[in-house]
Amino acid sequence: MTGEELKRRAAERAVSLVADGMRLGLGTGSTARHFVALLGARVREGLDVVAVPTSEATRAQAEAEGIRLTTLDETPELDLTVDGADELDDRLRLIKGGGGALLREKIVAAASRRMVVIADGSKRVAVLGRFPLPIEVVPFGLGATRRAVAAAAERAGCRGALSLRSAPDGAPFVTDGGHYILDGAFGRIEDPEALAGALATVPGVVDHGLFLGLATGAVVASEEGLAELGR
Ligand code: 5RP
Repeated sequence: MTGEELKRRAAERAVSLVADGMRLGLGTGSTARHFVALLGARVREGLDVVAVPTSEATRAQAEAEGIRLTTLDETPELDLTVDGADELDDRLRLIKGGGGALLREKIVAAASRRMVVIADGSKRVAVLGRFPLPIEVVPFGLGATRRAVAAAAERAGCRGALSLRSAPDGAPFVTDGGHYILDGAFGRIEDPEALAGALATVPGVVDHGLFLGLATGAVVASEEGLAELGR
């Protein structure tokens, strides 16, 4: 089975968790894209849901699929968010933001009673950190913020290169919120809570891709079948 087929499998299972009348959060990325496409098919068959997209890309896809959209101002509490992840561990701690949407993804996940991660088996790790940690920062003061991020990470036991993410044209990648992303190649993050706490103290850091205590469940598809964690 290809990676795309595995992602679709996980998305199919997640779509079966959606019931009429639900208020949904729609994730971002190639796995979430499968979910939005499958959800669109269910909506066209008569399923009645409203959804908050976590990026402009997902908004465009959901609109094209005919999914009714809302905002967290109109609908501040959601029933279920389904989103991908760059990594997840057995305690449902995540690294997200590979697609650059971590800020809206985290706001939407925090507003949801349930957040179910969909992923192929390659995303499951014993210790977070193989995937560089995305850290969203304000463009003003980038050089100083970068130094402060490195120092904060070091206090939490993490060292490694901090690269400014680039767009395909070589310019800095700009998020939907108008910010930049530093990718921290820290390697093993032994204490994600300590790192999250340290990063939160740095002025200029808007948020980071450690999602701790947000995911309530996961559907992970591999050649061996579907593994479900949490609820
Ligand atoms: C975007 C994300 C994505 O969910 C994450 O990067 C996984 O993407 P994909 O499903 O394409 O592997 O956090 O900000």
